[in-house]
Amino acid sequence: MKALILSGGRGTRLRPLTHTSAKQLIPVGGKPILFYGIEAIKKAGIDEIGIVIGETGEEIKNTVGDGSKFGVKITYIFQPEPLGLAHAVKISRDFLGEEKFIVFLGDNLIKDDLKKFREYFEKNNTNSLVLLSKVPNPQDFGVAELKDGKLIKLVEKPKKPPSDLALVGVYFFDKNIFKACEEIKPSWRNELEITDAIQWLIDHKLKVDALLIKGWWKDTGKPEDLIEANRFVLEDLEPDIKGEIIDSRIIGRVKVEKGTKIIESTVRGPVIIKNGTKVIKSYIGPFTSIQEDCYIENTEIEDSIIMDKSEIRDVKGRIEMSIVGREVKIFQDHSRPRIHRFILGDHSDVRLVE
Ligand code: G1P
Repeated sequence: MKALILSGGRGTRLRPLTHTSAKQLIPVGGKPILFYGIEAIKKAGIDEIGIVIGETGEEIKNTVGDGSKFGVKITYIFQPEPLGLAHAVKISRDFLGEEKFIVFLGDNLIKDDLKKFREYFEKNNTNSLVLLSKVPNPQDFGVAELKDGKLIKLVEKPKKPPSDLALVGVYFFDKNIFKACEEIKPSWRNELEITDAIQWLIDHKLKVDALLIKGWWKDTGKPEDLIEANRFVLEDLEPDIKGEIIDSRIIGRVKVEKGTKIIESTVRGPVIIKNGTKVIKSYIGPFTSIQEDCYIENTEIEDSIIMDKSEIRDVKGRIEMSIVGREVKIFQDHSRPRIHRFILGDHSDVRLVE
């Protein structure tokens, strides 16, 4: 069985982070989202993976490589335009061949073990298996309608959802899906929707099963999803202190990588602080991930993601529920006149308090 990871989209809902970086490479819990998908697929016993890439493809290739660091073999498939998930499946036909396969959306994080779903799909004579999860906001997803436990209808982002069961971004297919992807028409957002392709299978009397997942699942399409995903991942953090801790208090589950310095600070886990970062006279609170080579001084941060090489100094008031991109500088300026000065990229979001 092969796997196809879809990482071609533009990530418009995650701007400005996605102006400069692929959304699948944004780190949560200290690691790019995409890595969790590759690892989950590998754990399910699949080691041949195709990754569909678009305009952010070079960055994905550079970060993921040929797959050897994950113990898998990766083939890249270029999707020139983000024309939908079903379009991505369609253009991957040569790579996938005749075998059954799994499709995994590169911005999804799923805690449940995929192996049992793979086994179900292979043992039961079914043409497709979709996974469902109960959500409070079904209108933001593909939604399933079940009757006596059987899947009867799927709708993409319905205004009036028929249930609260969202389609998780993990699907199992056999080759019938290619015909479905050929037959369907683009949706209102001009995409070939995988949801419509699966509905085509149902309409043509092919067998589509649905199973509910038990663990958490997150589609990291929006900034608040990233912060929540970061929390989910950090819930399982194993404490491990390798860096230098000087005159500081470390409380709870904290991972501090080698080459990191924590000086005169308090860190209350779960928190991960990556290699090369310095934290001085600061408080780093629960559910915070700080990436490589950052500099944090005289600042309080909680429930946030701070990406590589950013510098945060002397900020009054706690920074909370924030995502700070790479090489960002935030600091208190003591010079006169007392002014706010911003150099922000398009779609930035800044909230100030008095
Ligand atoms: C896509 C699918 C949707 C599914 C979701 C899961 O939505 O179209 O059916 O529920 O992924 O992450 P998109 O992220 O393209 O809006």
